[in-house]
Amino acid sequence: AKIRHYRFHVAYQYKSPDCFQKLSVTINGQSPGPTIIAGQGDTVVVEVNNGLLTENTAIHWHGIRQIGTPWSDGTEGITQCPIAPGETFVYKFVVDRAGTYMYHAHYGMQRSAGLYGMIKVAVPEGAVEPFSYDYDRSIIVNDWWHKSTYDQAAGLSSIPFVFVGEPQSLLINGRGRFNCSMPSTTGGVCNLTNPDCSPSVFTVVPGKTYRFRIASVTSLSALNFGFEGHNMTVVEADGHYVKPFVVENLNLYSGETYSVIVKADQDPSRNYWASVNVVARKPSTATGTAILNYYPNHPSKLPPTTPPAGPQWDDTIVRFNQSTAIRAHPDHVEPPPPTSDRTIILLNTQNRIDGHTRWALNNVSFTLPHTPYLIALKHKLKHVFDSKPPPESYDYRSYDIQSIPSNPNATSSSSIYRLDFDSTVDVILQNANTLNPNNSETHPWHLHGHDFWVMGYGTGKFDPSVDVASFNLVDPIQKNTVPLHPYGWTALRFRADNPGVWAFHCHIESHFFMGMGMVFEEGVEKVGRLPRSIMGCGESKRLITKNL
Ligand code: C2O
Ligand code: CU
Repeated sequence: AKIRHYRFHVAYQYKSPDCFQKLSVTINGQSPGPTIIAGQGDTVVVEVNNGLLTENTAIHWHGIRQIGTPWSDGTEGITQCPIAPGETFVYKFVVDRAGTYMYHAHYGMQRSAGLYGMIKVAVPEGAVEPFSYDYDRSIIVNDWWHKSTYDQAAGLSSIPFVFVGEPQSLLINGRGRFNCSMPSTTGGVCNLTNPDCSPSVFTVVPGKTYRFRIASVTSLSALNFGFEGHNMTVVEADGHYVKPFVVENLNLYSGETYSVIVKADQDPSRNYWASVNVVARKPSTATGTAILNYYPNHPSKLPPTTPPAGPQWDDTIVRFNQSTAIRAHPDHVEPPPPTSDRTIILLNTQNRIDGHTRWALNNVSFTLPHTPYLIALKHKLKHVFDSKPPPESYDYRSYDIQSIPSNPNATSSSSIYRLDFDSTVDVILQNANTLNPNNSETHPWHLHGHDFWVMGYGTGKFDPSVDVASFNLVDPIQKNTVPLHPYGWTALRFRADNPGVWAFHCHIESHFFMGMGMVFEEGVEKVGRLPRSIMGCGESKRLITKNL
């Protein structure tokens, strides 16, 4: 195993990813940041220097389980204090499983300002994957706003509530195209000839086979991705091999990664579009495009067609069916434990707290404490978070998930779920109607520190006495991010076998900001000595001066 060393200098810089100039958070001058490339079992060391002048930061390595290094998970308020301006923080962790992952800021709504990138972990030398290809390419997709994340965050916490709204554009590998003649949200410089916004190009040689690793780091949008005129065979999801299935286009939820195999077998005399479209919310954002360039056509030669518009945005059934179609590869099935020790049912609702719009789970809206949980629990610091356990369930017999909540009030809390070490936990995510009539949103749920088995999806209300029997005990896929579809439920199972404190939250940046998340603790007493570099905020201030 090797050590892979990276230096990230995080700084604001003017960028025009969609031709509209915006102050963006960059890494070494780039957004997306550099791709981390490593082999399975390697140690990745990333020295993050915060050059943001007035803003904290923290970076999360999404999909990396951090076994034995919970303090490197990069979740501000949960596993570490924020990295203050001017400071350098060193993340060090082992990438223990080959696959496609990503990283992004985990501080406030900073991810949305451009701090993100990909992680590619190769299989060990000599290992064979259950598919073959000639070349390996990466695609990271994102949604993009012209307003600053400060504007966005302020609006979300205001009375009356101001939502971030639909994105101005969709970016493929950090490039998109805003129609400069459209009235922009903020005014400013828009220049269609800026090289920052020339489209991404994927050059292919006719007859060759490509593995495209696709990651979505969107702040809001569920996307549908496709290559015009080409089918894709899905072979990997969140670092696990999938029973191959062929799609014309792929629904991608924020926080998910996939690998697809594509053969360059179409008419080689022209180029084709790669396109992303918003699904699951009524779109008001133009199709995001890149060019699939058939060599030797010129890479800037535009395809003669209009970019594919994608499927009906509100066809929930199609998306639901795609979710349930994803199964573990027959030769790589790791069956789940047949039963669980604990079941936590989480009703996802939109609520009001003191006039603020919030999201809540079983009527509890999450707030981060000033002292990170990992430090508080390991060093037994009292009174830094709410110690009363949050509710295990909601009143599923009487709650009407199809209607606006009759009592939209919720409470906010920093309380967490403490799990017995090595126990098996089921989490049932239950969707419901929002505060708007006939509306239920799609939430991509992401678990830190683990992969979970996706035991099943359902429509309507989960009934424990009936639906547990429908769980897939045979070949469920393991993932770290999974969608919760409108008015439906999603069931997960995981083993609480990774000592630490782990976030579990909706990957929509504004939803997490508005309380749609929670924290699990397991085996914190087994965690090794915490590095002092994670301390220094809240009650952990006094620990750095103490002789630990
Ligand atoms: Cu990719 Cu806690 O998130
Ligand atoms: Cu959400």
